[in-house]
Amino acid sequence: MSDWRVGGLDEMGSELNPSRIQSLLEGSRIGKKICLFSECESTNDEARALAQNGEPEGTVIIAERQSKGRGRLQRRWFSPAGGLWFSVILRPGRCDSLGLLPLAVGLGVCEGLQCHLNGNPLGIKWPNDIVSVPDGKKLCGVLCECSELWVIAGIGINANLDPESLPEEIRTVSTSMKMLLGRAADRNAVMASVLTSLDRAYRLFVGGDRQELVRLISSKCVTLGKTVRVNDGQTVFAAEALKIELDGALRVRILGNGRSVNIYAGDVTLSHW
Ligand code: BTN
Repeated sequence: MSDWRVGGLDEMGSELNPSRIQSLLEGSRIGKKICLFSECESTNDEARALAQNGEPEGTVIIAERQSKGRGRLQRRWFSPAGGLWFSVILRPGRCDSLGLLPLAVGLGVCEGLQCHLNGNPLGIKWPNDIVSVPDGKKLCGVLCECSELWVIAGIGINANLDPESLPEEIRTVSTSMKMLLGRAADRNAVMASVLTSLDRAYRLFVGGDRQELVRLISSKCVTLGKTVRVNDGQTVFAAEALKIELDGALRVRILGNGRSVNIYAGDVTLSHW
């Protein structure tokens, strides 16, 4: 394991500081313990190792940099210094709608980020990208990995990244808090807000009010009502995004044959077909 620390760090404003994050948490159980790495391969891997050793729900693992950050669909996740790359250990127990959990995480993160963006609106692109509105540029991604006993919610927020530091292949489709604000964001304050609202969304999920959760997610979802290009791993087709189901699926109407189907995984991009 790389170096990691629990609790206090020096008080350098620009550095991640678990004590400062914790002092700003508003009653959140998520974040009561924060493990900070200066660098690791992937915080999801560190979180998984801890979860397998019985680490309780709510522990957060955060890294200044990841050398092998992972995205959805086996993609690489670019994770240089200045971002917020972290994973949360959750233990929701057996439940019939685990597919809704990544969306709940997306909702919590979206709400937590919103108050640090000086009015720049954000939306959720199904299943769980956080994008700036109206240009649709990606600000944050969520990667949930689970076993029967735990879920690791891995969250990557492009916080204080400059455009020239982004790899060319994502430069035109990504943004950062710094780019949206025109100045650096206070990463400790952002972390505290995100963990607090993530805790709220997670409690709604485990409390079972799925209707309310789906209503809140849908109200922020930029995918609904749009024509999308669906790649379900076998076929690629154009469809109209209709609604989010209680189990987290995206209900779409296939253009061409008019049939409605639920999408559970894969790549859904907004299209102008
Ligand atoms: C995606 O949009 O494809 C999901 C990206 C998730 C990235 C985060 S960064 C922290 C955690 N550790 C990882 O290796 N991945 C997630």
